[in-house]
Amino acid sequence: MLRSVVVGSGSEIAPNLVTNEMMARIMDTTDDWIRERSGVRTRYFASPDQATSDLGLAASKRALESAGLSPDEIDLVVFATMTPDHYFPGCGTLLQHKLGLRDVPCFDIRQQCSGFLYGLEMADAQIRAGMAKTVLLVGAEVHVGFMPWTNANWDYMIGASDVGPTPEEYAWNSKFRHLVVLFGDAGAAVVLKAAEGERGALDHILHGAGADYEKLYVPGTGFKHRPYTSPEQFRRGDHIPVMDGRFVFKMATTTMVEVATAILKRNRVGVADLKMVLMHQANLRINEYCAKALGVPEEKVAHNIQRYGNTTAATIPLLWDECVRDGRIVPGDLVLMVAFGAGMTWGASLVRA
Ligand code: ACO
Repeated sequence: MLRSVVVGSGSEIAPNLVTNEMMARIMDTTDDWIRERSGVRTRYFASPDQATSDLGLAASKRALESAGLSPDEIDLVVFATMTPDHYFPGCGTLLQHKLGLRDVPCFDIRQQCSGFLYGLEMADAQIRAGMAKTVLLVGAEVHVGFMPWTNANWDYMIGASDVGPTPEEYAWNSKFRHLVVLFGDAGAAVVLKAAEGERGALDHILHGAGADYEKLYVPGTGFKHRPYTSPEQFRRGDHIPVMDGRFVFKMATTTMVEVATAILKRNRVGVADLKMVLMHQANLRINEYCAKALGVPEEKVAHNIQRYGNTTAATIPLLWDECVRDGRIVPGDLVLMVAFGAGMTWGASLVRA
């Protein structure tokens, strides 16, 4: 049976470290609050000259290197992001060009934190159908553009200036504190190759339900508006995501446990058969809750939200890359991936490394 085997992976973390204490310089928050409620200790943000396709490019080069493949061998690109370089075109063709690939088809996936699993399912379907043989699947994000602070606040936060925020700026930044402390910038990529045998993607379950999309969305800069963006929207902060954290927390825990249980049952797999569980990194507490509900022991659950925050479409491939590089995942291991994201969207995949 033809399967999609992960033959390489790579990642790139944005260069600018921001600790919780640094964030507390420009908004009303504390290291204790952020760590206790989310698990995040540090995150990294992109530099002004870095866009999502650049982080995706660096990650893709490492993924190709680890796969021992040349760019010429890629015959499909799937790029998942909710923070594309431009409104259009998507990052797929930008990456194709920067990486010097042939004129291969490029898909752009925009299912936010579920983007990698949506991309994985589609890449796998292309391979199983014989439409593609070697797929580059990327998840990358540069969230720093939707942060509320001014450039001068940023300089003060990172210690490059002595001029702190005005009381108005401090209040404005604090208005979004429940959201901005969670995110970080990174890119990660995997190369999938068609092969016969037991290894590879085994199954996927994806869901989407739009009824409550306004619990987690960007109200402005969309074509629902005439014009689609305006100074008024920016004054209101409508370019910054709205998030009902408690609602999202509850829906994420419920759906992730349900979909993980369903995929294990459908494949007659028990928790004991799994080597690692890679969950989307939105909040350490969400994942601790899910792991407990599923009966997965701590040592089988990979986390990196403490260091990188929520890197949206990059979280799962980043975890995969870390686990492969430090030996927690070796060929033949069974891995469960689970994600929940805006839309709302959620899903799970079972992959034999
Ligand atoms: N620092 C200090 N205090 C804060 C901060 C902060 N950064 N943020 C919020 N607070 C305050 C609130 O103002 C509130 O104060 P009040 O009681 O005086 O009103 C108090 O802390 C509690 O706020 P809650 O929002 O109820 O806190 P909660 O425990 O729910 O934690 C959090 C908030 C971390 C956002 C949590 O709800 C969460 O992680 N939700 C899920 C997030 C998620 O999964 N997002 C999806 C991923 S993103 C994507 O898909 C694009």
